[in-house]
Amino acid sequence: MHEKSISGLHKLSKAEKINWLAKNFSADEGTTTESLHSFWHEDAEIQRILDGFSENTLSNFVFPYGIAPNFLVDGQMYAVPMVIEESSVVAAAASAAKFWLPKGGFKTTVLGTTKLGQLHFSWKGHSAKLEALMPELCRTLLSDVQHITSNMEKRGGGISSIELQNMCHLEADYYQLKVGFETCDSMGANFINSVLEEFGRSLQHFISAQPSFSASEREVEVIMAILSNYTPNCIVRAEVSCPVEQLDDACINLDGLGFAEKFAKAVRIAEIDPYRATTHNKGIYNGVDAVVIATGNDFRATEACGHTYAARDGQYRSLSHCRVENGIFKFWLDLPIALGTVGGLTKLHPLANLSLEILGQPSAPELMSIIAATGLAQNFAAVRSLVTTGIQKGHMKMHLMNILNHLGGDADACKAAAEYFQDRVVSFSAVREFLDRREEGKTKPAVNAM
Ligand code: MEV
Repeated sequence: MHEKSISGLHKLSKAEKINWLAKNFSADEGTTTESLHSFWHEDAEIQRILDGFSENTLSNFVFPYGIAPNFLVDGQMYAVPMVIEESSVVAAAASAAKFWLPKGGFKTTVLGTTKLGQLHFSWKGHSAKLEALMPELCRTLLSDVQHITSNMEKRGGGISSIELQNMCHLEADYYQLKVGFETCDSMGANFINSVLEEFGRSLQHFISAQPSFSASEREVEVIMAILSNYTPNCIVRAEVSCPVEQLDDACINLDGLGFAEKFAKAVRIAEIDPYRATTHNKGIYNGVDAVVIATGNDFRATEACGHTYAARDGQYRSLSHCRVENGIFKFWLDLPIALGTVGGLTKLHPLANLSLEILGQPSAPELMSIIAATGLAQNFAAVRSLVTTGIQKGHMKMHLMNILNHLGGDADACKAAAEYFQDRVVSFSAVREFLDRREEGKTKPAVNAM
């Protein structure tokens, strides 16, 4: 055993875990312990709930919780809660929301809500024999999971399809059951995985009891049962559109048509070039993830899904698209995203719960719409900056405050710096120089002093 290794860390109390960590992995035991304690929630009950979300919890990692107002989505006004550490993101979302507000806001269409799961298995035999049994197998599977699905069915969901996928051309004896689910307002991960694991047992039982099968055909190896985070049919489209003349105020150097065409060209580049598409989509996920996190949803799942969808034809492309036709600018985003507004962290995490309250307790499809609108707004703001002023102008102004905080600038210095850098380029060294000069000025005796 290495001297710093440990087994059974999870059995220690929180204080003991912190002691162990501070002793073995910190430069200064006292500071580490103090720092971890300082982020504990003052309400012990809330802290207990937060601790319960994960394992070996020592403290809380705090991110800013902001709000982007003026989001008109399908005729309804929202103030959108966003959890994000990157400066400018909330400001950009808010500015795009305000820009589109008098033009009718964001229109969305939920194109589908089907989630997917797979039962992966190996079976040696003639595939036609398996295919012929599918109708009977489906009836058996559905009946064997009734105890899991009945509640979901009462809420209007359940299993929507079961397909046998023959994958033997890629891997010997490999098959899947590809299963479609409707999970109403829940993300449905636990429901889907429970059904699939039961399907595994049911399949084994069914195959082993086939009288027409040989001894070897009666054996099936269940490899794994798990939902797929790729849900191309759980997808929402968000769009904005307006006559190009209404874009006259989008940029000082271009008229509406000029701006629209340059903007569309930038989006086209993200459609055809994976390097640009990656950054373009990252900008979309600045907005999407911030709301996904604020509402207690799984941002890793939504990102993974979106990026797979972006590469669905074999090349990674932008998730958003733009056309300028017959004098109309149209910009839209197709976002595959599986979300929940009940279950999981949504009600347990106090701020996720609050976010859903602020959003008017949306259904899962309504939350899909709000999040897609936020992603589109974020994308609009980023591309608008890129094709007009450049991204650094707005970004570095916000970043200035981070640099000042990093360098220990006080409130007065921040105020003075904001003024000084209004028409100057912000950089780490320029800010340091500015602060040094201020300090020198303070320590130098005034010329007229007697
Ligand atoms: C920065 O977080 C996001 C952008 O790079 C997105 C984009 O380039 O479209 C500004």
